[in-house]
Amino acid sequence: MAERTLIIIKPDGIQRHLAGEIIGRFEKKGFKLVAAKFIQISEDLARRHYAVHRGKGFFEGVVKYLSSAPLLVMVWEAEGIIDMSRKMMGATFGYDAEPGTIRGDFSSSRGYNLIHGSDSPQSAEREIELFFKPDEIIDYELADACWLYGKND
Ligand code: RTP
Ligand code: MG
Repeated sequence: MAERTLIIIKPDGIQRHLAGEIIGRFEKKGFKLVAAKFIQISEDLARRHYAVHRGKGFFEGVVKYLSSAPLLVMVWEAEGIIDMSRKMMGATFGYDAEPGTIRGDFSSSRGYNLIHGSDSPQSAEREIELFFKPDEIIDYELADACWLYGKND
């Protein structure tokens, strides 16, 4: 199984009609969608998701932001996906993010930032478990996998 990551299109991404745009970028990059849920999460789940930030000045604010309206939580798969998806997302806030990145192209905020992506294999494993049961993640082959992931060896 290739590497997996947890991606969330955050409440502002949904409210600003950017879900299709963001999903389209991951699809066109060749990542494989293996799980998805459209839900509004509790403050408790938001706290657990961002547990590493407990005690920081922005913690309560980010908990309110994430639980304030529906979001789309997904698991995507590809070799090296954590690194690639973090590059595609850009710096934490659109104000600083490079053009060409998701945050850089669609956000100018220093508070809201459209998308979450796991930052390491350990975070991905912990975050995926928070949102998905094992049988909600679907193992399947993409028909064009040989073209998407081709190697010259
Ligand atoms: P994420 O975890 O959502 O993918 O974002 P990230 O790695 O780029 O940023 P991180 O440092 O993990 O922060 C988690 C989320 O908390 C909010 N935040 N607000 N100074 C602030 O006001 C501040 N810093 C962080 C953002 O929503 C950020 O995505
Ligand atoms: Mg983070």
